[in-house]
Amino acid sequence: MVVNDSDTAISTGQERVLIYHLREVIKTREAQGVAFKLRVPSLQIALGEKIALIGESGCGKSTLLDMLTFISRPSSEAAFKFRPEAGAQPIDIARHWQRGQLNALSDLRMLRLGYVMQTGGLLPYLSVRENISLSRRLLGLDLGNIELLAEALGIEKHLDKRPSQLSTGERQRVAIGRALAHEPAIVIADEPTASLDPIAAEAIMALFIEMVEALNITVIVASHAWRHVHKLGLRRLTLKTHKDSSGRMTETIVSG
Ligand SMILES: Nc1ncnc2c1ncn2[C@@H]1O[C@H](COP(=O)(O)OP(=O)(O)OP(=O)(O)O)[C@@H](O)[C@H]1O
Ligand SMILES: [Mg+2]
Repeated sequence: MVVNDSDTAISTGQERVLIYHLREVIKTREAQGVAFKLRVPSLQIALGEKIALIGESGCGKSTLLDMLTFISRPSSEAAFKFRPEAGAQPIDIARHWQRGQLNALSDLRMLRLGYVMQTGGLLPYLSVRENISLSRRLLGLDLGNIELLAEALGIEKHLDKRPSQLSTGERQRVAIGRALAHEPAIVIADEPTASLDPIAAEAIMALFIEMVEALNITVIVASHAWRHVHKLGLRRLTLKTHKDSSGRMTETIVSG
């Protein structure tokens, strides 16, 4: 694959639109004298791709996802571009950070991204229906077809319940519904099935991937349930960690 800085990649003669284009992105962190460095030499993700983020606990998966969702500012970067629509110009995220345009970043996050959290992150005082439609309401969109989405997720009977009246697996399905309801360009999921037993985790992961495929949404998922990466057709992004001999410096390099 040939990559250029205009955010397209030429692969076997076909042009692919890159939703993310990162070059030499670095995030450093320090806590109690222990330094951590995440380095992304080069990362290109095409619109519609399905990515699995794989690496041991503490290697920096959430750190990378926080940068990809514009929550956390890279310590340095050569390029960080985001292009949520094929027809539009790429957005220079690095420049937004440099200029302190935090509102623009948060608008971009609300409009273009969906996020599935490890434990669902649902609002306990809202019904399932209200939780799912929240992103659309915040964006001033009509409520869309919540029933149809709930049916696809197998939670149509629970729409008027509160999250506390659901099982963990049902809550995770609602969280997926909430992340997809406004049809974002990309859905990011950080260990979305970690609190489920392996069989439920597998079923929900398969359903999640099936739905993003049907909606043609790009997906990045960090998870430990990796037996099915191949079966689900995900591209593997690997995080490899090295410690220096003193144990005070950890570096993770993202590749794939
Ligand atoms: N706010 C912070 N300040 C300083 N260091 C942090 C902070 N958050 C995380 N770290 C450190 O950064 C490193 C990467 O953490 P991160 O949460 O990204 O890992 P992870 O791969 O998501 O782990 P897990 O699989 O356990 O969720 C760890 O060494 C962690 O201790
Ligand atoms: Mg994490």
